[in-house]
Amino acid sequence: MDRAPGLSVRLKLTLSYAGFLMVAGALLLTAVWVFLLRYVPDRAMLINPDDRPTGGVFPIRSVLLGVFAPRAFAVLAFLLVFGLVGGWLLAGRMLGPLTRIADATRLASTGSLSHRVRLPGRNDEFRELADAFDTMLARLEEHVAEQRRFAANASHELRTPLAISKSLIDVARGDPAQDTVEIIERLHTVNTRAIDLTEALLLLSRAGQRSFTREQADLSLLAEEATETLLPLAEKLGVTIETSGDIAPADGSPALLLQLTMNLLHNAIVHNLPGQGTVWVTTGVRPKTVVLTVENTGEKLTPQLLSTLTAPFQRGTERIRTDHEGVGLGLAIVNTITQAHDGTLTLTARSSGGIRVTVELPRAPCPPTGDGSGN
Ligand SMILES: Nc1ncnc2c1ncn2[C@@H]1O[C@H](COP(=O)(O)OP(=O)(O)OP(=O)(O)O)[C@@H](O)[C@H]1O
Ligand SMILES: [Mg+2]
Repeated sequence: MDRAPGLSVRLKLTLSYAGFLMVAGALLLTAVWVFLLRYVPDRAMLINPDDRPTGGVFPIRSVLLGVFAPRAFAVLAFLLVFGLVGGWLLAGRMLGPLTRIADATRLASTGSLSHRVRLPGRNDEFRELADAFDTMLARLEEHVAEQRRFAANASHELRTPLAISKSLIDVARGDPAQDTVEIIERLHTVNTRAIDLTEALLLLSRAGQRSFTREQADLSLLAEEATETLLPLAEKLGVTIETSGDIAPADGSPALLLQLTMNLLHNAIVHNLPGQGTVWVTTGVRPKTVVLTVENTGEKLTPQLLSTLTAPFQRGTERIRTDHEGVGLGLAIVNTITQAHDGTLTLTARSSGGIRVTVELPRAPCPPTGDGSGN
């Protein structure tokens, strides 16, 4: 922002110190003068050594004023110089930390986020500000690194289908005798995968923007809808789905919450035991929240692996099914949607294998009862 040049804070503080010192000095000198006026008589009779009045009068006050005034001005002049010099040094010392914080801010604005203020000393307002600034820089640095990792991963994932398409086209171009039907079929698969990935990325970005309108969305209905849609896949993979629970009205976007439920259920089906898996989908109501739990049988997962799964492009170490070519965005989307709804996502490893995913969301406000009592 362009601002008109002004006095520096150091100069303003210096002038305030000096001004205050001058006012205090002037008050003190006035007090002394008032005291003198009160206790020193205006004039005195001149007397001889033999104690007889000479008839002459001595003007004590005017003599005193003649002596007092120049000294008072000297004291005030000294206080002014003392106030200016002392104030300048003191203000410099007090504002030192601020200069360090300003330097760090300037560095950060040029893109260097690794610099920290790290003010030494005991806690005070400046240290508090510097520490808060350091914490903000650390968060920002982490966020930027995460964004870079995300962009690199996304580009990598998008490049793979494009590279496969290119080599398929090259093969077809180089050898016209090739079976084009097979090549077109493979191109179609690769292309679908690229579209799915792009759509997942778009969804992730839209959900993160929190630009949806909130309305009442019953999680139990969404769970039923997701189960119905994914039942053919579950049957194909030999997985049983058990859905139960109460009406759970969440406050949010029905479309995004359906996506969240679908992703969780899809994961529970495809990352399950082959041929004998079970998935339990339950919904519940708490005083201020509603809960969706998706639990499935499966391989045992370590807590360390579990804590990394919600990061974008993170897949489990071993693929249980090679025919499910996931990109590792499903749980990242669930996490983003949950956060956009001010909810919490919890992943717990089941002792017998598989995981339990719990999503807790704010409960929708109760609709008006309509009994007319409010009128
Ligand atoms: N219900 C589950 N049971 C066991 N493992 C799971 C479950 N859900 C997720 N995982 C593990 O977490 C990883 C990340 O899941 P995520 O949904 O983010 O990606 P994905 O399923 O591999 O790919 P996609 O982007 O298609 O969803 C999976 O690869 C899997 O290893
Ligand atoms: Mg998934």
